[in-house]
Amino acid sequence: NTYNIGIIVGSLRKQSYNKKIAAFICEQPANKFNYRVIEIGDLPLYNQDFDDEGNPPESYVRFRKEIAALDAVLFITPEYNRSVPAVLKNAIDVGSRPYGKNKWDGKPGAIISSSTGAYGAFGANHHIRQSLVFVNIYPMQQPEAYLGNIKDCIGENGKIELQKTKDFLLSFKRAFEHWIIRIVHTKGQD
Ligand code: FNR
Repeated sequence: NTYNIGIIVGSLRKQSYNKKIAAFICEQPANKFNYRVIEIGDLPLYNQDFDDEGNPPESYVRFRKEIAALDAVLFITPEYNRSVPAVLKNAIDVGSRPYGKNKWDGKPGAIISSSTGAYGAFGANHHIRQSLVFVNIYPMQQPEAYLGNIKDCIGENGKIELQKTKDFLLSFKRAFEHWIIRIVHTKGQD
């Protein structure tokens, strides 16, 4: 069995630290868990008229198809004003509609939040959980991942360099993979 895992990054900027964390996860040697980043920057702000009129933007169609095909979702996000960046919330909203066709339904998930500040985007990490629970993603509870002072973890080559950060991310990744197996294999059982 192989598992398709989508990574959704809550920052669009080219030099995003959160993108660098995503790159680190994707660069790990292949095993049966395949990670890739799913684009959200091209999704127009959600407007229900698109769906009601039966004419959603091409990017919505593409995004919803990609989400539907995933076995699990990993969110890697900064915090904007103590909450979830609007681009990420928008992506969750787009994937949850049209009504009755929620593409997130029943998938295992996990959250890594990171910040240049000391608190590791704790606020965003917990606000996104509220939406994930509602769209029926199963977010892993433990371990939690709040990466503070993220700038200090990056080397001159622009990659995650600090060994303890790499070790932590790898142990988080392993825990998530156990979580995925647990959720996928208990689905549909009493
Ligand atoms: C921030 N930043 C920030 N950091 C934080 O720890 N708590 C916060 O509430 C905020 N708020 C905030 C709002 C806005 C609009 C911006 C642009 C930034 C700082 C943020 O952690 C920093 O810019 C990170 O580098 C953003 O992540 P990426 O883009 O590097 O992935």
